[in-house]
Amino acid sequence: MILQGRLLIDPKQIPKEGWLRIENGHIAEIEQGSPPKEPEAGSRDAMICPGFVDAHLHPPQFDVMGCDRLELLDWLDRVIYPAETRWSDKAFAETHALDSHRRMLAAGTLGYAGFLTSHEHSVMAITKAAQQIPLRALAGQVLMDRHAPEELLENRIARLARSEKGRLDCTLNPRFAPACSDDLLADTGRRLGEGFPFSFKQREAGEKGTELFMQTHLAESRAECDLVRELFPDDEHYTGIYDRHGLLTNRTLLAHCVHLADDEWELIAARNCVVVHCPGANTFLQSGVFDLNKARAHGVRLALGSDVGAGCDLAMPRVARAMIEVAKLRRMTIDPSAHVPTSVEAWNLITRHNAQALGFHDMGRIEKGASADLLILRLPFACDAHLIGRLIHTWRDEYITHRVLNGRIA
Ligand code: GUN
Ligand code: ZN
Repeated sequence: MILQGRLLIDPKQIPKEGWLRIENGHIAEIEQGSPPKEPEAGSRDAMICPGFVDAHLHPPQFDVMGCDRLELLDWLDRVIYPAETRWSDKAFAETHALDSHRRMLAAGTLGYAGFLTSHEHSVMAITKAAQQIPLRALAGQVLMDRHAPEELLENRIARLARSEKGRLDCTLNPRFAPACSDDLLADTGRRLGEGFPFSFKQREAGEKGTELFMQTHLAESRAECDLVRELFPDDEHYTGIYDRHGLLTNRTLLAHCVHLADDEWELIAARNCVVVHCPGANTFLQSGVFDLNKARAHGVRLALGSDVGAGCDLAMPRVARAMIEVAKLRRMTIDPSAHVPTSVEAWNLITRHNAQALGFHDMGRIEKGASADLLILRLPFACDAHLIGRLIHTWRDEYITHRVLNGRIA
């Protein structure tokens, strides 16, 4: 298949007219100039860019975006737990899992890391959705065993699934320390150590499976941090609780990290975890103003997440815009030395850096051998030195004319 358009290979440069040949789901050829035959999609003045990757969101929360005026703990109790309880119904869960993939695809998000619900069947629901709309995904059942409605404390850890051709990998997702007992966190740590899959034979032989990703929330709001101090009085700090259970590895995604002390940043850096900044959600729930300088000073790997439903926008360019706006506000009001990411930095985050953070190493870039997870855009503005700024600050999903998923036009 041939696609024609300006190729957004390096966001620091103005993209040149060219074309791509796609074979077996990957980019096989990249050339400047006119294509050798009629393209399947695109045109001379279309733009071809990598699909977006969202490093943190909740498919079961898509229908409750925008339930405003509550802070994190009350919002979980009054909005989120009731919404996730609706996934108790298997058919409902399957319909909504598929709908979440449809909506991500519409927004140009072709890869993501997500939290399901605590129901065992939520894993099957997302596996089925991934068969129909094969987004590249890390997704896991939410693990929680306290401080939530009884119905959500099901807590048999589902069989971890892995889809054909590696488009979906299951992860271990303890929700956050307030909803997890020490026993549950210890069990999660053990399973993380065992890897995937957990066949009886393999375990008997003391063999390790392939390494798993672990996702959780950390230090999102002050009230949450106060509660954690009450529930875990013997731990030095919040991050240390996860570390004590062996949950911090280079495959750990820690969402939020708004209220951390320096020694916690150091620990996260030492364990080489990824911190997922969720700017829209932090503003929506009034959780706090993320400190990009801390992450940079400690050399922590950073990713960006919509955190829908606390975030109210699936479109990753708009999440990138929220990151820049929050950083500008921080600089104007809290810290004149606050780093404000450039549009190019933000664009790289929502494409190649998020992809790398999630282990999707051949995604988020246009290069020979990369996976053909691409978007074709039609833009109402000039393709000049301000292209990336315009893309991020004026983004609308209507810019997308085609979505190329795993080498096929979706
Ligand atoms: N902390 C624990 N659970 C959640 C959740 O579902 N959303 C957000 N934003 N924070 C959480
Ligand atoms: Zn979240």
